[in-house]
Amino acid sequence: MPMAPFDPITAIYTPVHAWMYETVVAPAVYRSRHVIDEYFLPHLPPNARILDVGSGGALFTKYIADQRPDVHIIGIDLSQPQIKRATKRMRNYGDRVRFELGDATQLDFADQTFDGVISYGSIKHWSPRDAGLAECVRVLKPGGPLLITEADRSTSFEDAEKFIETYTTPNFLGGINLAIFHTWIAGRSIDLKEARDLASRLHLIDENVSRITGMPLVMISGRRPA
Ligand SMILES: C[S@@+](CC[C@H](N)C(=O)[O-])C[C@H]1O[C@@H](n2cnc3c(N)ncnc32)[C@H](O)[C@@H]1O
Repeated sequence: MPMAPFDPITAIYTPVHAWMYETVVAPAVYRSRHVIDEYFLPHLPPNARILDVGSGGALFTKYIADQRPDVHIIGIDLSQPQIKRATKRMRNYGDRVRFELGDATQLDFADQTFDGVISYGSIKHWSPRDAGLAECVRVLKPGGPLLITEADRSTSFEDAEKFIETYTTPNFLGGINLAIFHTWIAGRSIDLKEARDLASRLHLIDENVSRITGMPLVMISGRRPA
């Protein structure tokens, strides 16, 4: 599996990738959390069991756990350093939240295990992407919400520029950050058309595939049919 920073697919995050993502990029991505409030949380039953696929350092796992103290969340990730980071961050949440090594394309859970499945910024790494999405739907209970977000390869220059401005790096690195975002992150990600194509195979109820307004991100949301 490629491990160097500029290999084509950095599927397994090393501690350096994890640190870079978390310190520099994640605060910018975190600004999109309102889509969780709008498209995910309202569709969860009380005491829901949630799966966070590619949970990384638990940024959004923590957000969900804080919004909904009634839910239980399992985060899975291909990267051991990320599992370690997430477990440490969430150590005060007891058995409500736990993390396991796992691959989105081969989830180690029975059909219809979860009341909700979410994945933030991970699908670009899945190989193949449609297999991972099919797995997300397989482990979801009928009616349960699915929310996938990812960097948008078809983003406008303006949205990418605004996003980069919220990176936690000195301003003079803006041009470099923008180039890296366009090539290494969004450049290897999905665009709106691919997101629509992927979603069309899932036959979700209330399917919504769209750009997240003002951000270089796309999302797929909907609920699993019976
Ligand atoms: C950009 S990080 C996003 C982390 C977190 N969801 C967030 O938004 O802060 C992408 C994560 O996906 C994980 N990942 C990549 N391929 C994966 C796969 N096939 N199955 C599970 N996790 C995967 C990486 O290890 C990494 O932690």
